[in-house]
Amino acid sequence: MLPKETPRFITFEGGEGAGKSTQIKRLSTYLNELSVPHLLTREPGGTALAEKIRTLLVTGKADAMDPLTEYLLFSAARRDHLEKIIKPALTQGSWVLCDRFYDSSYVYQGLSPQKDKALDLSFMDSVYKEIAGSDFEPSLTFVFDIDPKIGLTRVQKRCTASTDKKKEQENRFESKGLDFHNRIRQGFLKLQSGNPHRCRLIDGSQPIDQTFQHIRSILEDL
Ligand code: TYD
Repeated sequence: MLPKETPRFITFEGGEGAGKSTQIKRLSTYLNELSVPHLLTREPGGTALAEKIRTLLVTGKADAMDPLTEYLLFSAARRDHLEKIIKPALTQGSWVLCDRFYDSSYVYQGLSPQKDKALDLSFMDSVYKEIAGSDFEPSLTFVFDIDPKIGLTRVQKRCTASTDKKKEQENRFESKGLDFHNRIRQGFLKLQSGNPHRCRLIDGSQPIDQTFQHIRSILEDL
């Protein structure tokens, strides 16, 4: 059984097509069964303003903006999301499940771009502290790991099968190429090994049910 008393802020992170969006929905269904009040949200997004910023970030050409422009836009969306949705929900005693959060910025804009474009990590941290507060971080983060060749193939299949035109156009990051996505994978592994208590590694290549059992067991052992 899960301890229900403490509202938890749980984030789902990882490369493209690693299965986090499927598992976040599974966890939400499970929390509903246990009557645990919770909110399911995502970044970039979660508010009307942040969804508009999302469109700027995830559509268009791969090189349409550099990591600094991206980070400032992700941060503006994150600030709005934190102020209007995430923090009020936690204050009201709800759990918050978030599909991506600051760790995605840390890896996509900080650890993984080519050397001359990667952002200074202490600059990123100071912007984050300004928008979120110096002690605010997820209580738990699931880091999904998968070989990008498999992950990107899954995403392409999903796109081909989808009838949702908007979702189909949200492929700016996916189109950045295999080298970039291999660096993203290494970035998330580095993040996880540097924060083993908060960040738990999830093997994204396993069957859906097995992966969910792993997630459940981590939550029950907290
Ligand atoms: P999305 O379609 O939500 O990707 P996924 O389904 O894989 O979660 O698009 C979000 C993209 O934005 C994703 O490629 C990762 C990227 N991103 C960043 O680069 N920095 C960030 O801070 C966040 C939140 C996302």
